This record gives sequence, C-alpha cells and structure tokens, in this order.
Amino acid sequence: MSGSRRVLVVGGGGREHALAWKLSREGAEVFVAPGNAGTAAVAQNVPIGASDVPALVAFARDRGIDLTVVGPEAPLVAGIVDAFTAAGLRIFGPTSRAAQLEGSKLFCKQILHRGDVPTAMFQEFRSVATARDFLMAREDMPVVVKADGLAAGKGVFVCDDREAAVAAVETLGSDPQFAAAARGILVEERLDGMEVSVMAITDGRTIVTLPPLQDHKAAHDGDQGPNTGGMGAYCPTPFVDGEMLADIEARILVPTVHALRRAKVPFQGVLYAGLMLTAQGPKVLEFNARFGDPECEALLVRMESRLLDILDAAADRRLDDVEPPVWRPGASVTVVMASEGYPGPVEKGRPIRGLDAAAAIEGVEVFHAATRRGADGGIQNDGGRTLAVTAVGDSLARAKLLAYSAVREIRWPGAWCRKDISDKAAAFEVESAGGAGARP
Ligand code: AMP
Ligand code: GLY
Repeated sequence: MSGSRRVLVVGGGGREHALAWKLSREGAEVFVAPGNAGTAAVAQNVPIGASDVPALVAFARDRGIDLTVVGPEAPLVAGIVDAFTAAGLRIFGPTSRAAQLEGSKLFCKQILHRGDVPTAMFQEFRSVATARDFLMAREDMPVVVKADGLAAGKGVFVCDDREAAVAAVETLGSDPQFAAAARGILVEERLDGMEVSVMAITDGRTIVTLPPLQDHKAAHDGDQGPNTGGMGAYCPTPFVDGEMLADIEARILVPTVHALRRAKVPFQGVLYAGLMLTAQGPKVLEFNARFGDPECEALLVRMESRLLDILDAAADRRLDDVEPPVWRPGASVTVVMASEGYPGPVEKGRPIRGLDAAAAIEGVEVFHAATRRGADGGIQNDGGRTLAVTAVGDSLARAKLLAYSAVREIRWPGAWCRKDISDKAAAFEVESAGGAGARP
C-alpha cells in the first residue's frame, strides 16, 4: 500500500515508540497520542491522553486516520475499540469485553477453564473474611494472592507461607488503591519455573504466533528487588524452542481464542500469554490484551515483514490471507534505563546526554519510554522507565554487547539499569551447547 496511509498509535511509552518507528519505516504517516520526545522524531505527536477516548475518536475522524493501534491496556478496558467501531473507524485491539481477559483475572480463569488451558489452580473469594478463613483452614503452603481487577501490576502477592498470604489478603481489603480491583480475590497455587512471554496477533479466528521472549520483571540483577513493569527483554528466548512454541500455540493460544469466540467475546488484537514453564509443561500465569512493554521493542527490531499489513488484516478479520512474518536471524536485547526511585516516584526533568552517540552504534535503536523536551530544547526524563535501549545482533551475545555499549553512552543524574538482561539465556545456551534449540 502507498505511503499515504495514516496511522494513529495510542500511548506514550517505549512500546508506542517502537510501533511508531516500525510503521513510519513502512511508509505510513504516523501520529502518536500523546507520545514522547522519541516518538516526535519518527511521527507527529498529538496532545491527547491515551484514555481520552472521545477526543481520540474526534481526532481520528477529523484527520482521516485509516487505522488506530492501541498500546496500553487502560483505554482498551475503557472501551476505545467499541467507541471507534461505533464511529465507523478502523482500530486494532480487543473490545472492552474481550480486554477483560487482562482486566479481570476471574474472567481470564473462566475462559482458561472453558478452553481446558493449563493454568494454576485457584479459589475465588468475594470478601477478605472468606479468603482468610480458607487460608487458615488449609495446609500452610506457598500461594499467590491476586486482586481480580487492574491494579497497575501491584495487585499480585507471591507468598511463601500462610502468614504472608493472610497479610496480602488483608492489604487488599484495607489499602484504598485496591478498593475497586479487590472486589474479587483469587488465591492461587504458586507455580515454579522459568517465566516467558509469548504473544500472538489474532483476528478472533486465525492467529499469528510471534517469537518467544523473556522479560525481566524484578528491579535488580539476579531477579532481586520489587516487581516492575519490566526492566528488559530479549528475543528469541531459547527456553521455548520451536516444538514448545508449537505446543503453546496448540494447547494455550488457539484454545483461548476459541473459548473467547464460543463465549461470544471474539478477541481481535494482541493476545499476550505470560507463561510459567513448569515441570508439567507451560502454564498460563496471566493474559494481557496488548503488546508487552519492553517485549514489543525487542520484537519489532527483528521484524522484517510489514507490521501494518498484519495489523490491517487483523482489524479486517482476514488474517488467514497473510503470509507468516519473517524475522531477522540472530537475536535482540532491550535494556530499560530507569530513573532514580523507580518503581516508586521519580524526579522528572533531568537532562539526558549521549542519546546521539548511543543511536549511532550500528544495530542500536534507542526507544524512549518516558521523555520530554525541556524549555532549552534538550531531552529530559519524564517518568520511571525512561529509555528502552535496544540492539539486534547475529547472536544473543552480540546483541547484548551492543545494547550495553549504547547504555554506556547515555547518562543523566540517577540513571540506572539491570546489568544482566539475557544472562539466563546465555547460561542456558552454554549448558546445552551442541544441541541448538530451534529458533522461530
Ligand atoms: P500477573 O500480574 O498475574 O502476571 O502476576 C505478576 C507476577 O507474579 C508474574 O509475572 C509472576 O512472576 C508472579 N506470579 C503470578 N502468578 C503466579 C503463580 N501462580 N505462581 C508463581 N508466580 C506467579
Ligand atoms: N512486560 C510486561 C508487560 O507488558 O505486562
């Protein structure tokens, strides 16, 4: 299709920068709402918040946008896809009901049950008292306590014993930030194993499974410290070889898409499975209804096919017409550079230096996750996860080397990152040397 296609990307983080970067390279005229200082270099920023659905509908209509692509979950759950569709506008992403797969952990469990998809055993409670009674009456064992609704990644407590689980249930009941999310409480069996992310693009019937990745959710090296939105990712992860990916597609992704369709909640968009590779095989920890961040950054730098053609086909429910995407051989690594204080509050407005030198390194793309332009024209930090420094290489080791070379060029007061992104894979590859895993 011609370069006159107009695409609106909704969101303002590293994922949206990567989407805008890829789509603009494919010749589309890209707008990002609200975007950041990085998206302004590859697209036109629009000063509308990602959750201001009426203003986004009006913008898309007035500017003749051909396709809107939604990054974050909040506008999806709030019904942006329903509103665009009602206005006759094309949009890539699930409806509000389908986004409940991410927005409600109970809904997710119901769908998994209907599809006979492997996941942790769980019990559901409607009050703190009943959840506490259950924990007290039961054998003392590790569990995970979860609030049903969206809680910005904070409503999950991985507990070693009964005491911790009871404390978690009480926190959900008393902390005002969980008031809405904790109307339902889940107590889940705690699973052991390696965590991986597998995403697929679907139109509700056909699915296109994407290469597997591994995120790094803990703040500090060696998976220590508090949970974050993700401190780095790499692609592909050797923990999921071609055979296991086919198994995940057949036993997890396809049955989930079908269970949603049978429940009359067809899902169009990105189906993102957070999986635990247990001794009994891959099990679903959670589903998200969007691209992962920073997974999206590490994924798109390897994508050689046109993303816009796939998103268009998914939006038009004709994904079965599309050739499977082609991926650059080798690997990619994304290192998130964060500001001092993250995942807590951070001081904003600190000048960032060295971005050009980092971007000049061959194979490197510096995606902005939370930046803005200061009054002096310089780029400043504007949030916790600030940059998603991404590199491709012929091997994982090469991609890691390039990504960290770029990180070393960039500085601002208080900047920090994990130093061990992709190391689990490197250790695994050394261990299994000689038996190279199949790489999708
Ligand atoms: P969720 O938001 O459900 O993905 O949970 C956030 C994180 O908590 C996951 O990335 C896992 O590290 C951990 N987690 C969630 N559920 C379980 C479980 N059943 N067993 C072990 N860890 C879990
Ligand atoms: N990186 C984890 C997520 O996007 O939810």
